Amino acid sequence: MKITVIGTGYVGLVSGTCFAEMGNKVTCIDVDSNKIEKLENGIIPIYEPGLEVMVKRNYDRKTLIFSTKLSDHLDACDIAFIAVGTPMGDDGSADLKYVLQVAKEIGQNMTTPLIIVDKSTVPVGTADKVRAAINEELEKRKVNIDFDVVSNPEFLKEGDAINDFMKPDRVVIGADKDETAEKMRALYSPFFRSGSARLIIMDVKSAEMTKYVANAMLATKISFMNEVANICELVGADVNDVRIGIGSDSRIGYSFIYPGSGYGGSCFPKDVKALHRTAAENGYEALLIGAVEAVNDTQKLVMAKKVVKRFGEDLTGKTFAIWGLSFKPDTDDMREAPAIYIIKELVSRGAKIKAYDPKAMHEAQEFYLKGINEVSYCNSKYEAIVDADAMILLTDWKEFRIPDFEELKTQLKQPIVFDGRNQYNDKMMMKNGFEYFQIGKQP
Ligand code: UGA
Repeated sequence: MKITVIGTGYVGLVSGTCFAEMGNKVTCIDVDSNKIEKLENGIIPIYEPGLEVMVKRNYDRKTLIFSTKLSDHLDACDIAFIAVGTPMGDDGSADLKYVLQVAKEIGQNMTTPLIIVDKSTVPVGTADKVRAAINEELEKRKVNIDFDVVSNPEFLKEGDAINDFMKPDRVVIGADKDETAEKMRALYSPFFRSGSARLIIMDVKSAEMTKYVANAMLATKISFMNEVANICELVGADVNDVRIGIGSDSRIGYSFIYPGSGYGGSCFPKDVKALHRTAAENGYEALLIGAVEAVNDTQKLVMAKKVVKRFGEDLTGKTFAIWGLSFKPDTDDMREAPAIYIIKELVSRGAKIKAYDPKAMHEAQEFYLKGINEVSYCNSKYEAIVDADAMILLTDWKEFRIPDFEELKTQLKQPIVFDGRNQYNDKMMMKNGFEYFQIGKQP
C-alpha cells in the first residue's frame, strides 16, 4: 500500500519504518526540515534499539522516503497516518492543535479517496473533529472526495518499540465503516498469523478510549504498588516479597507491579491527566484516576525524603552520585523522569550532584537540568561515585545491576546506597558493609 505518515516523532518514525519493512511504500513527513535532512542522511533523532538499521535499509531500497511537503504525498495515497504530538495543555487536556492543523492540510490537498488514521494519542471525540476539519476544507474547495477517519492507537514502549510494532500484543482499529475496517485489516494482517484474535476491530470512540484506559490501568498498577511499598515500610514488611506473593496469582500477574521512584515518560503522566480531564468534561469526577496521579507525584520524591532523613534537612557540602537520569532504561528520554525532581530537590537543599546515565546526559544538560551548575556529568558510573557521600540509583539500566561492589565501597566516602528501583539484594548489601535504602522495606 502507499502510506503517508505525518510526524516523525517516536510513534510516526517507528510506525512508518515498520510499515516500510513489511513492503509498503512509505513517506514520512515532518515540518522540521532539519530533522528530515538528518533522517535522509541516516541520522535518527531518538535513541531506539534497532531503528537506525531499519530506517537505513528501507531508505536504501526506497520503500521509505522523507519529505517536508505533505501536499506532494497525498496523490494516490491509500492511508495517511496522523502521528504528530499532542502536548498537554495547561488544564491537563491533550492539545489537538497539531492534529487539527494536519487534518486541515489533508483537506486542502487530498485528490483521491483516502483513509485518515489518528495514530497520535487523542481523546475520545477527536476522530469527529478531524472529520469535520477535513470536510470544511473539501467544502471550501467545492470538491467531493471520499474519505474516512480511523482511530488506531499505538501501544509501543520506548526501548522496545520495534519489537512491539513488528510483533504486537494487539492492534486496535476503530473504524465505523466495514470497508475501511477491511482495508486496515489488510494493512496489519502481515503482522499476525491469519485469523488472529489480536487484530481487534471496534468502533472509533471505543478505540480512542482503549488507548487511555490501557495506560491509565498500567499507571494504576504502579501507583498501587508504590502505595503498598510505603505501607510495607511502616509495618515492617518487604514489598519485594509481597510483589512475588501477589504476582503468582495469575489474575494479578507479575508485570507492572514493580515499585520504584514513580512512573515518568511522555505517556503515562499525560494520559492519566487527560483521562481525568475527559471524565471531568463529561461531568464525572474520576476519583481513582486522580489518586493515581497524586500518588505518583509524591512517589517521585520518596528517595529524596530518604536522603534527607539520613543526612539532614541541610545538604550543604554533600555530594551525591546519581546513577540513571532517563525515565526508564534503553532510552534517552527524560520527560517527567523522577531524576529531574529528585535532583532539583537535593540541589535546593545545598547538595552537589555527580550524574551518570548511559544515554540521557545530553538531554539532561541541554533541557531538563539545564543551567543547574551544581550538577556535573561523569563519563562512567564509577567516575560518578568518587568522593560522593552516597550513590542514588534512579533508572534500572542493565549496567547498574551488577556493579563492582568493592569499587563502589572504596570510592564512596561512606558505603551508602539509595536504590530507587530495588535492584540489589538487601541482605547481600548489608553483608558487604553497605548502608542500603530501598523502596518498600526499612533497612
Ligand atoms: C507506555 C506503555 O507501556 C506502552 O504500552 C504505551 O504504548 C506507551 O506508554 C505510549 O502510550 O506510547 P513507555 O512510556 O515507553 O510505554 O514506558 P513503560 O515501559 O510503560 O514505563 C513507564 C514508566 O513506568 C517508567 O517510568 C517505568 O520505570 C515505570 N514502571 C514500569 C514502574 O515503575 N514499575 C513497573 O512495574 C513498570
